Amino acid sequence: MKFIHITDFHLVAPGTPLWGLNPHDRVDRCLSDIERWHGDADFCVISGDLSDKGDPAAYRWLSERLDRFALKTFVIPGNHDDREALCAAFPAIARDANGFVQYVHATPVGRFLFLDTLKGPVSEGEYCAARREWLAGQLAAAAREPAWIFMHHPPFDIAIPYMDRIKLEEPEEFAGILASHSDIRHIFFGHVHRAAFIHWRGIPCTCLPGTNHQVPLARESVGTPYSHEPPMYGVVLIEDDKTIVHFEACLDREPADMGEGQ
Ligand SMILES: [Fe+2]
Repeated sequence: MKFIHITDFHLVAPGTPLWGLNPHDRVDRCLSDIERWHGDADFCVISGDLSDKGDPAAYRWLSERLDRFALKTFVIPGNHDDREALCAAFPAIARDANGFVQYVHATPVGRFLFLDTLKGPVSEGEYCAARREWLAGQLAAAAREPAWIFMHHPPFDIAIPYMDRIKLEEPEEFAGILASHSDIRHIFFGHVHRAAFIHWRGIPCTCLPGTNHQVPLARESVGTPYSHEPPMYGVVLIEDDKTIVHFEACLDREPADMGEGQ
């Protein structure tokens, strides 16, 4: 099983820059790179913040771009998204009985669970009782099958104060649901705009830079809340005895100068 994880596009109205960069051009180039070098992947997941401010034009642009993308792609909302605007542009997207953008993809290596942690026009994440009930039901149905979780907000601190203030609320309630299942194999999340690995309560977790701007690990290193650092997408390989996550900085990849330093 091979899939692609990519996150935090922060698309605005086409033609509009964001923090000095062109988010559409960067997404377009990342998706083309995925098709060129990883077109054999089973699917792709975009883990939230598809848009920067919930602009319907941003979702329309993405929907049309994904229509031309070779991989089946799953999307979930992040805190910068507008659930209804997102769903209007992706009318076929699955929603749970309460209207949250939550759904399951069953595969031979286990069940992939896509969660909706959007709270509203605020930055922190929410996983309310109704959503927890849905997750508990899905994990019960999975029984002994491995479960792979995708969500926008991390349910833990990540040692970046700016991000830790806007993580998932009520993390203990969320952890309690996961504890009901014997084989949560991995959590993939977005939101923090950095590449990081976390081992949380026995569960491996990874996150990625966004495709546009990033969050500096030390804000004083750049003096601004956001930074320009290489975007990356994750190439995830699930094998019998291991899970591999490669981080591909495709927009900053250049051939080495083989004539220097030998
Ligand atoms: Fe984001």
